[in-house]
Amino acid sequence: MRSLLLFPLLLTSAAAADAVVTYDEHIKPIFREHCLKCHGEDEQKADLNLANFTSVLKGGSGDKAVIAGRASQSLLFQAITAEDDSERMPPKKAPLPAPQIELIRQWIQGGLRESSASKSLVAERDTSFKPAATLNFDGPPPMPESLPTFTPPKLKRPLPIIAMAASPRAPLIAVAGHEHVRLVDANTQKELGVLAFPEGQPNVIRFSLDGRVLMVAGGKPVQSGSVVLFDIKTGKRLTTIGDETDAALAADLSPDQQLVALGGSGKVVKIYNTADGKLRHKLTKHTDWITALTFSPDGKKLASSDRAGGIHLWDATGGGILLSLAEHKAAVRALSWRSDSRMLASGGEDGLLIWWDAKDGWPAITNTNAHPPVRPTGYYGKLPNGVLSAAFGPNGELLTAGRDKQVRLWAANGSVLKSFANETSLPLQTSITFDGKGLFAGDAAGAVRYWTAAN
Ligand code: HEC
Repeated sequence: MRSLLLFPLLLTSAAAADAVVTYDEHIKPIFREHCLKCHGEDEQKADLNLANFTSVLKGGSGDKAVIAGRASQSLLFQAITAEDDSERMPPKKAPLPAPQIELIRQWIQGGLRESSASKSLVAERDTSFKPAATLNFDGPPPMPESLPTFTPPKLKRPLPIIAMAASPRAPLIAVAGHEHVRLVDANTQKELGVLAFPEGQPNVIRFSLDGRVLMVAGGKPVQSGSVVLFDIKTGKRLTTIGDETDAALAADLSPDQQLVALGGSGKVVKIYNTADGKLRHKLTKHTDWITALTFSPDGKKLASSDRAGGIHLWDATGGGILLSLAEHKAAVRALSWRSDSRMLASGGEDGLLIWWDAKDGWPAITNTNAHPPVRPTGYYGKLPNGVLSAAFGPNGELLTAGRDKQVRLWAANGSVLKSFANETSLPLQTSITFDGKGLFAGDAAGAVRYWTAAN
């Protein structure tokens, strides 16, 4: 894959905000100035003619030159932004000026309009949230009742909160600590109990869909890794799964609690049966450390991501690959399914926040700058601009955290509803309570902050 030059200052936010850029008015003049000598009516290097709209759409000897709505996947855009001089168009020349590249990007993203009278070639996407059929669970919402007493050792300095989860049925938050998990009442923020995790650092915490089981995955770096399932009411350990040689960095429990997926530095996703602890599938398509794993709430799909920006969708039970979602250029830090299983959100160190349509793997909403850092005056270097966490709530809303130290709540259509500053420290984890009312963030200084969605 060709690497891309990035122009962070020029990237606009949501694709929807892009102005209408057309071939006739904006793009043809750029092609005439830089490309038509070799890709025009007279000469057509690589069989590519950029001199008229129809032949641009037709493409050249290689792939299609442009894909409506997908600049990053378009050969032409890759050709003008290639970092390698020998791969970049026009050959043996300086790259196109950044504003022209940005116009071409907007033209492709905006759906390849020929003139202002033309329609976008990107089909309108329905991103609306339709709640899944209400799950009918018996009994009251599961809360801790009789946990064994356990006092975690006092540390000089609290650890960063690298794992956190909200119960999908009860006012309950689980927060990772040193070799333990704290269970906190989401209404009062009082600690209800502590679960010991002598296996090591908890790197991932997930509730089962019925809220009765807590999955904790982690271990000791370059020593051991595993997944433990706990009963939420009694705190009893139900089972231990996996016997890895490195800490589990990503894991999830399937909605029917039959399967556990886990991954880490081994680059392989392993799916285990919870009943007998046996390895069921090994998924081997990732080229880097596995950073996140999540089953769709309908139990049909498993999404996995890696440190190089790769995301794959798998058939959760059969183990076959369904789709590869290529857009991120840096580590994917977060994956979250919307409760209707129609959208998967991904956030990464490249600053991208994407809502993927799970049906065909189309980036239905792309935010190129979800957590834009504030540039200190007099500083011109590259600023870290990552999305660190993303978690859907019950009504299709998404809560994210980023390197700009903001926690942000997004509506189902991808617009920002609210921003909260976490001035003291970098927010690493976000969770929305089962009723959508409580917004939680765990930060690098070990603190859990709380906001209400209502005010
Ligand atoms: C000096 C001649 C020249 C100019 C100017 C030029 N190209 Fe090319 N282009 C080529 C040649 C030669 C190839 C085929 C060689 C290769 O594949 O690397 C090519 C290949 C391509 C391809 C790949 C086509 C395919 O189907 O494989 C794209 C896309 C492309 N050029 C876009 C552009 C754009 C956009 C511009 C203007 C910004 C441009 N080129 C300017 C000579 C040129």
